[in-house]
Order: sequence, then structure tokens, then C-alpha cells
Amino acid sequence: MKVSCPKILELSEFESITRSLGKPLVTSKHVLNKDRTVQELSNNGLFSDGDVGWHHDWSYGRGNYFGTILYNVKNAHLSPTLFCDMSKVPESLKQMYSNAVGNYSPPKHLHDLCFTEKQLRILEKQKVQRPFIINHHITGEEILYCSISTIQNNQHDLLPIEKYIESNIYKYEWKENDFLIWDNLKMIHKRNAFKGERMLWRSQFII
Ligand SMILES: [Fe+2]
Repeated sequence: MKVSCPKILELSEFESITRSLGKPLVTSKHVLNKDRTVQELSNNGLFSDGDVGWHHDWSYGRGNYFGTILYNVKNAHLSPTLFCDMSKVPESLKQMYSNAVGNYSPPKHLHDLCFTEKQLRILEKQKVQRPFIINHHITGEEILYCSISTIQNNQHDLLPIEKYIESNIYKYEWKENDFLIWDNLKMIHKRNAFKGERMLWRSQFII
């Protein structure tokens, strides 16, 4: 869901919007508020300015659902956010992966940027596994879940999934003061590399 905000949001206002959506995820690095529920994403901070490949947020963490909210603080338009709705994949593609299971842990290139040593120890110990075919626990929709850039030790051919995604992209072009809220279970997403100063606030929440 896209919301165009008529004014610049204060951090406290963003926090209260997040709280109204669900239970916010508490994290450690790049946090902006006392409750540690709002993170700053920036060209010289979290996720930096390089490519961020196709993924579902928090694929390597426990829990079956996280929604995400992003707010455009500065120049988000420098890199549009790309989405693909994985609840819409054809039956034939779902059939190909009906017994497949993905292993997830934080990818190496995110270790220093995103996590404390303690978080990494916990996440690597959890060895999260997710079937490729899941049912959304709220809507009941069947979803092809494969977080391509965070899956580890993968034994499956992901090319058919990548081809489907690349042919069914929804590209979001950011405008000033926009925020986006999405269902992270079904919306795989990515962002391309960019140059310049870009900053967003992010919260993730459990429903
Ligand atoms: Fe993400």
C-alpha cells in the first residue's frame, strides 16, 4: 500500500503509525528510537548504496509473518523499489517446487552492516527452514516463497522463479514524503545500486 503524506513526518509519528500496524520488530543496529523499532537505511549506513537483490525481509529469522513499512526521508527516488507478488505465480511453477525447502541465514555481506555479533550467533543457530510453498496464515493464499538473495546452500534450480519475477515486476517510483507498507510474506522485493544521498526509515512488524 502506498500513502502520500501531505507533510514531513516526525520520527514519533512514524513510530506510532508502525505501532498501529502490528507488533514492531525490535532490533539493534542503525536504530533511531528508544524502543529500537525504527531503523535508518542510508547510502552510507544500512544496506549502503549497492544492489540489494530479490528477497523477503527477515527470511532468516523466526516467525511466519513480517510486514514492512518504509518512509522516504530523503531522495528515495534515486532507486525505485521493485516488487513481485508471489501469491500470483502460476500453478505450474508452484508444482515444480512443491517439496522444496529453503535454508536461510544472514548472507555474509550483511553481517557487519546489519547485525551485532550476538544477533548473528542467534540467527545462525536457528537455521531457519522455509518450504517454497506456504499458506499465508491470515489470507490463506498459497505463496511461492523463495528469498533468492538470502537462501543458503541451495540445491534447487531457481532460474524459473527468477524468470517469472523479472517478467512480473511492479516498480515503485518514490515521491516526497511517501511511505509504503507491504505484506512481506508475499511481496518479494529488491533495489538497484544508486549514487547520491538517500535515506529512508524502516520498521518491520508482526501480525
Ligand atoms: Fe527488504
